[in-house]
Amino acid sequence: MKHPDIKQIEIFCGTGGVGKTTLATSRALFLANLSKKVLIITIDPAKRLKEVLNIKDETGGEAQSVKGNIFGEKFQNATFDAILMSPYASLKRIEQKTKIKTDFNNTIIQTLVRPYGGMNEIMGMVDVHHFYNLNKYDVIILDTPPGKHFIDFLESAKKINNFFDKSFIEIFSYLGKSLKNSNKDKEIGIIKLLVTTGIKKLISYLEIVTGPEFVKNFTEAIHSLYLAQEAFTDALKLEEILQNEKKSNWFLVTSAQQHKGEEAEELHSLAVKLMHKDNFLLINKSLMPLLLDWDATNSNDLTIIKNSLIKREQSIRNCIQDQFESIFEFPEVLGISPQEHVAELAEVWKKD
Ligand SMILES: Nc1ncnc2c1ncn2[C@@H]1O[C@H](COP(=O)(O)OP(=O)(O)OP(=O)(O)O)[C@@H](O)[C@H]1O
Ligand SMILES: [Mg+2]
Repeated sequence: MKHPDIKQIEIFCGTGGVGKTTLATSRALFLANLSKKVLIITIDPAKRLKEVLNIKDETGGEAQSVKGNIFGEKFQNATFDAILMSPYASLKRIEQKTKIKTDFNNTIIQTLVRPYGGMNEIMGMVDVHHFYNLNKYDVIILDTPPGKHFIDFLESAKKINNFFDKSFIEIFSYLGKSLKNSNKDKEIGIIKLLVTTGIKKLISYLEIVTGPEFVKNFTEAIHSLYLAQEAFTDALKLEEILQNEKKSNWFLVTSAQQHKGEEAEELHSLAVKLMHKDNFLLINKSLMPLLLDWDATNSNDLTIIKNSLIKREQSIRNCIQDQFESIFEFPEVLGISPQEHVAELAEVWKKD
């Protein structure tokens, strides 16, 4: 089995419930135990990481220190940082950095920065880039939301580009200004006048449906994001890092038990256009080590069960392994608590 080298950014992705958060945390613990400076960020709005790490959500978006002893004595000297990504905290960070004020009372901004407000993936990109640039961590581990949302994260660079597309944004930035400063109308050129006349007409209809307050808030929100655009477009540089195999590791997680093989295959075919070739398939919850050790010879029934379980696991491998050069297996842990799972899986990353 080829062991992954340690890279500056390591991404865990996969379909729902396969063990992304657990394996990402086990990787963080393993690296912290090697005295690496590690930050783990979850951009999953469900934030199961907080249960695994016993941390509170109140300080969402800020780095919190996690002591390894919650995973047992063996890890008592390990510490790492964790962030439960919050679009609100990320936008605050942008405000501090750019010195451009964001109106957090604006109802559109408030909607956007909610955990499911649609900015999670874009803000994830901005945040990871921010912490990467701080040069404070040897490794930044990313726990992504399930399935398609992870693709959203990968595509958020494109979304940032589209969002700040000039033709769209200039109209709104103009409207944002003109709402406050309508006597400036005369200063604009004939083309802008034509465009904005059309848009104004549209907006006037929208105002009838939504009320003028909504339109005012909407244009002002877009305008303020536009003013801070550099902080967003700067994050596009992260895309290069994610596609550079010297700088990032990709771990696609699948489960040996839940017939997730086909889902992993589908996700891989979508993601492969965006991630580099040096990626790993992590087969989690594998019963194979237990099955191979299991002496079922004194009962026919048990032998049948054993063989069918082995066959089932094997079929998942056959289904997806051709697409991955490197496959890494993690056993089903028999303990109950998520901390037990993390502790045991952290050992698997060790090279023999
Ligand atoms: N190897 C393992 N052995 C036993 N239990 C495991 C193993 N890996 C993960 N689990 C357990 O499986 C459950 C799901 O794991 P986890 O939350 O890490 O999945 P996920 O892929 O992050 O889920 P989501 O898609 O909801 O984010 C948890 O209860 C976790 O403790
Ligand atoms: Mg998770």
